Amino acid sequence: MITLNVNGQPHQVDVAPDTPLLWVLRDTLQMTGTKYGCGQALCGACTVHLDGAPARACTLPVSAVVGRKITTIEAVDRQRVGKAVQDAWRKLDVVQCGYCQSGQIMSAVALLSEKRKPTDADIDKAMAGNLCRCATYVRVRAAIHEAAKALA
Ligand code: FES
Ligand code: FES
Repeated sequence: MITLNVNGQPHQVDVAPDTPLLWVLRDTLQMTGTKYGCGQALCGACTVHLDGAPARACTLPVSAVVGRKITTIEAVDRQRVGKAVQDAWRKLDVVQCGYCQSGQIMSAVALLSEKRKPTDADIDKAMAGNLCRCATYVRVRAAIHEAAKALA
């Protein structure tokens, strides 16, 4: 048994230590908000927070995250920054198909938690690893500025 701290709660999971965190979240814990895209840490669809920093759950073996604070999209609105980001996303209607958006939001929240007033360049850098096939990049950037305004 492996104990994981997910969204502030301990979860005991009976999985092999090399199982990627993404499968444990989706298949074992039924937290399907975190998406599978590439499986190779290239697209950002599976982004979660590890101790507040963005991490790609598809390539992280669960054994590497024992004792770390894992946060998923399911709980991101419990923090002030997460709530502001989700509100901005709704206000600017960022989402198109939605597939990449949990990952986009997790990266945006991590950025704004670190830097309350990011520049366009900060945003482009922080979001560079989150790909969107629907090309919502312009609205993602605008929503991050909008959330920053709400948090000021
Ligand atoms: S699914 Fe993890 S980065 Fe693409
Ligand atoms: S909204 Fe469709 S992939 Fe990003």
